[in-house]
Amino acid sequence: MFKITLLPGDGIGPEVTAGAVRVLQAVQKCTGVEITMQEALFGGCAYDKTGTPLPEETLRLCLEGDAVLLGAVGGPRWDNLPVHLRPERGALLPLRKELGVFANLRPSLIFPSLADASTLKREVVDGLDLMVVRELTGGIYFGKKQREDLPEGGYRVVETLEYTTGEIERVARVAFELARKRRCKLTSVDKANVLESSRLWREVVSGLAAEYPDVELNHMLVDNCAMQLVRNPKQFDVLLTENMFGDILSDQASQLTGSIGMLPSASLGGKVGLFEPIHGSAPDIAGKDIANPIASILSVAMMLRYSFNLEEEAALVERAVSAVLEEGYRTTDIMQPGMRRVSTGEMAELIAGKI
Ligand code: NAI
Ligand code: MG
Repeated sequence: MFKITLLPGDGIGPEVTAGAVRVLQAVQKCTGVEITMQEALFGGCAYDKTGTPLPEETLRLCLEGDAVLLGAVGGPRWDNLPVHLRPERGALLPLRKELGVFANLRPSLIFPSLADASTLKREVVDGLDLMVVRELTGGIYFGKKQREDLPEGGYRVVETLEYTTGEIERVARVAFELARKRRCKLTSVDKANVLESSRLWREVVSGLAAEYPDVELNHMLVDNCAMQLVRNPKQFDVLLTENMFGDILSDQASQLTGSIGMLPSASLGGKVGLFEPIHGSAPDIAGKDIANPIASILSVAMMLRYSFNLEEEAALVERAVSAVLEEGYRTTDIMQPGMRRVSTGEMAELIAGKI
């Protein structure tokens, strides 16, 4: 029996999460996997009802379950709150830290029927299948911050970037293990020519290579990597990065595939895994039943694979998505001439039907 905590959140979060739940129910019915789901308040909607974006009860439920499925949080309504009450800073970052999910996996994969949806040439992206492994709970985002007044006017700010050998080693192991199950190629990204933290990063990653002789390891400077990702992204299998570089590069990598509405993520490392589409709450299309639920549905596939070790069930979900796309069904964001436009709910229903 697996216990999932659902955090639908704000904007399109509840719409896409409902689609993912619909698909999970189909998986449950067809395979006999036992799953229970409980919903909790998280983000702006939690602030509206309880005065805090991350209520204690929500955190408790998340820590007690086996996995968390998150929709998205935030929106203009909450942008002017003090920082600690804002959905992203007051709920999302603390949740990741509390769950100890130090490894963020973001696959960039092109479904054959969507190879023309990218802004890059078809031959550059067709067949693309890479995975970014981003360190998620350390580095400059969590380092000490300071702002002080200068006597002559203006300010001086300080941000600190800290990593320990242990923090680098544990996320690097996740990347090596993943590479081993894929095409056995690992590219570790850093800025070792200028940053001390990157020098340690490179030392630690290189030090592990002997334990994974089947994995081909190479190192790449982050600026070059940004360029290579648009020049020839198919050279990559697994990309390993620290937190900030990974934030930027994974957004870039994800967009190679066309629509942000297609891309899932998994955050792992603690007892409880966190799964969410990479997109946000999309206030511009919220409430219209037009959001693409596939990123959320594929996040469920990642949950089945990485948290529950149900590889066949995960593949079943991915095949169902692929089959519905092959048949020409499209939400608005991936609409192409001659295809059939469907709503959020219809897309989820079609995918559940394939299962
Ligand atoms: P966004 O990802 O919400 O939207 C960017 C654009 O992509 C919009 O035009 C939106 O309509 C479209 N889009 C996003 N998801 C889609 C889907 N499933 N189907 C079709 N179109 C989709 O990013 P934005 O606008 O920068 O942020 C909106 C809010 O979401 C902000 O408050 C931001 O802080 C928050 N956010 C939350 C995240 C989270 O909860 N993990 C992640 C990113 C942003
Ligand atoms: Mg980002």
